[in-house]
Amino acid sequence: MELNRRTVIAGAAAAGIAATALGGVAEASTSGGKKPTKKVFGTLADGTEVHLWSLANGGTRLKVLDYGGIVQSLEIPDRRGRYTNVSLGFDNIEDYVAKSPYFGALIGRFGNRIGKGQFTLDGKSYQVDVNDGANSLHGGSKGFDKHVWSVEPFAKGSDVGLYLRYTSADGEMGYPGTLKVKVTYTLTRHGDWRIDYEATTDKATVVNLTNHVYWNLAGESSGTIYDHELEIDAARYTPVDSGLIPTGELARVAGTPFDFRRAKTVGEDIRVAHQQLLYGKGLDHNWVLDKGITSRPAPVATLRDPSSGRTLTISTTEPGLQFYSGNFLDGTLVGSGGTVYRQGDGMCLETQHFPDSPNKPNFPSTVLRPGQTYRSTTVHSFDC
Ligand code: BGC
Repeated sequence: MELNRRTVIAGAAAAGIAATALGGVAEASTSGGKKPTKKVFGTLADGTEVHLWSLANGGTRLKVLDYGGIVQSLEIPDRRGRYTNVSLGFDNIEDYVAKSPYFGALIGRFGNRIGKGQFTLDGKSYQVDVNDGANSLHGGSKGFDKHVWSVEPFAKGSDVGLYLRYTSADGEMGYPGTLKVKVTYTLTRHGDWRIDYEATTDKATVVNLTNHVYWNLAGESSGTIYDHELEIDAARYTPVDSGLIPTGELARVAGTPFDFRRAKTVGEDIRVAHQQLLYGKGLDHNWVLDKGITSRPAPVATLRDPSSGRTLTISTTEPGLQFYSGNFLDGTLVGSGGTVYRQGDGMCLETQHFPDSPNKPNFPSTVLRPGQTYRSTTVHSFDC
């Protein structure tokens, strides 16, 4: 499959078609290895400048903000070599600050929900910030998505990328321990976007980091993702209550709308009258990946837009995948392409540990202790 993409990109280069003629920025050559560049994207209310970093390698073009480590744009070619931005976002910092539903952002300290924002660790009770009804979502009201990260660019061998660093103070959003986080975004010579997460703490704590790109492989302003074909290698998922907190059960997907073991369109079963789909207003659940936790990233999901041929394969070390079908996009946000985002115009595939793990002894542990290093890797590979 990868051959397709290489052929498209190499073919365009051989034909002398400039990157710009393929619809994008000039630095997006196929040679790779160029150090990322930055420019000012906007200014926060307190006067802090926010920068936009541009990277290109192996036919993939990535734009990243130091604010939230946000992927502001990710461009890949279709089967005819035409580039488009396949991730939802804004064209200005004000909208990211005021109303972003985590578009493209780094999520921490705890991706997904913690019931009532409460948990007990080593006999001590903690209350973290509650920002989603009765629960805590994506680290609380000022999570990692709302901080400016320090960014250091690199070009190493055939890879280019960014090191993003943030230190979360002891007690931030209610979480114990000073958490030092380093996230590496790498664009490989094959155009893969790889994310390596690392964190250390000085007190026992819980950690669950992820990224919240909303994908639309037909283009961020092209309408819904219901025609995208999705495969997830998971025989079970974690059903939720009405507040989207897992019940603790690892339910079989067989015979339910949650069965994506063979590729089917996202829209195929999304209107089935199933209690879980009513709770999520669509698909908004964690799949229990068959491969479990692995030391190296292993393939777990493939998303394909049949109209353009663009295909995304996700490989991860994580045991879970939150598939969120953009149910809460409600026509009130104008995206970077100038069109309004409506329900289902983008979808997230968030690699992670399971939601509410700190309160679910039967789920893989999210506890991090002093002396240990949290490590997690996810690779996004593109094809057409
Ligand atoms: C969650 C959704 C939530 C969304 C916020 C997703 O990760 O699964 O329930 O509404 O983030 O944008």
